[in-house]
Amino acid sequence: MTFNDVTYSAKAMKASFLLAAATATSLLAGSAGAADAKIDFAKDIQPLLEKSCVSCHGAEKQKGDLRLDSRAATLKGGKDGASVVPGQADKSDLYRRVTLAPGSDDVMPSKGDLLTKAQTDLIRDWINQGANWPDSIVLKAVGGDAGKPAADTVFAALGEPKSAPGEAAALAKLEAAGVAVRPIAMNLKWREANFRMLGTNVTDETIAPVRDILPLVELNLAGTRVTDAGLQPVEALTSLLALHLEHTKITDAGLAHLKNLSHLGYLNLFDTAVTDAGLENLKGLKSLKRLYVWETKVTEAGAAELKKAIPGLQISLGWEHEPVVKSEPVAAKEAAKAQKSEDKKAEKPADKPADKPAAAAAPAAPAAAPAADAKKDEKK
Ligand code: HEC
Repeated sequence: MTFNDVTYSAKAMKASFLLAAATATSLLAGSAGAADAKIDFAKDIQPLLEKSCVSCHGAEKQKGDLRLDSRAATLKGGKDGASVVPGQADKSDLYRRVTLAPGSDDVMPSKGDLLTKAQTDLIRDWINQGANWPDSIVLKAVGGDAGKPAADTVFAALGEPKSAPGEAAALAKLEAAGVAVRPIAMNLKWREANFRMLGTNVTDETIAPVRDILPLVELNLAGTRVTDAGLQPVEALTSLLALHLEHTKITDAGLAHLKNLSHLGYLNLFDTAVTDAGLENLKGLKSLKRLYVWETKVTEAGAAELKKAIPGLQISLGWEHEPVVKSEPVAAKEAAKAQKSEDKKAEKPADKPADKPAAAAAPAAPAAAPAADAKKDEKK
């Protein structure tokens, strides 16, 4: 009953990027020939602007000083100038932004699901046909995807990846040791490091260089010989979203090194010597969504205590226990479901360094922390 893979993790975020890409591709075929069809603003364009854009670019909010609720405002554009140049989609910032790769800085909408290829083709054709938009139509935001946290907002909340002077040397050292440190997704500078493949060959010394790889968002030390002291370098990795420490000799003392990982959403302590006392060190980790403490000395009471300190945290105590969410039957069921699917995955060699489409197909648990989302909103 090894527990290999994760539901809440950077992998889940990657999965949502891949799924978005797949959706866009499957819609490609359907859009053939659309260039010839006359676009009807009210029918084809208005609904998608209202659903995906106007909540941030309308009467209430004008992100980037841009309103997209009337033709005049849309042509005038925002702080970077015109957003639509009638007749020239390829010169229109609006079209450029909705067709950028998922995860890139400028992509729109900046939150929520990206537009499909079929939808961006409609926009392209609409602009190329003169961006017709009757004066009488003023758009209003309708409840759409805008409020839904998107994977990329998690990364936005982290800010720009920092780089330490020793990063290149650290990467070289890890490479020499056979440790894979890879970008988490295309167009993202965030990285993941997986020591699990090398298992018990990995000592504290092998791990030490990670202290200079600040863009790490996922670190897998499962099944290694890492000790409590060996977790000290992890203190520098304040962008970490997911940390695997299952099947290690970690004790309560090791958890003291995790105190400042304020973005950490996923922590796996399965099959370690951690106790309730160790959980005290985690009370400040307000982003923590999932904690696995099966086969540890953590008690239900200890878990309940931590849950009180971190709203929204799900803790899995093990197969023999109900997840500690008895007061929320729905959440409990979901947690149980998640455990089952993780068990299934565990039967496969799920931790190959090569990317596996299987992971993308797995149910991606909420990848984004709502708090992170709110932060981004304030910033812009
Ligand atoms: C969740 C809020 C949000 C949503 C939804 C959103 N945007 Fe934006 N948009 C922003 C922010 C923030 C900026 C300014 C930062 C930047 O330039 O990336 C911006 C900037 C822009 C700009 C550049 C404005 C300028 O001149 O600097 C364009 C064009 C744009 N958005 C188009 C769109 C379109 C089209 C949609 C819908 C498909 C959309 N946006 C949905 C938040 C949003």
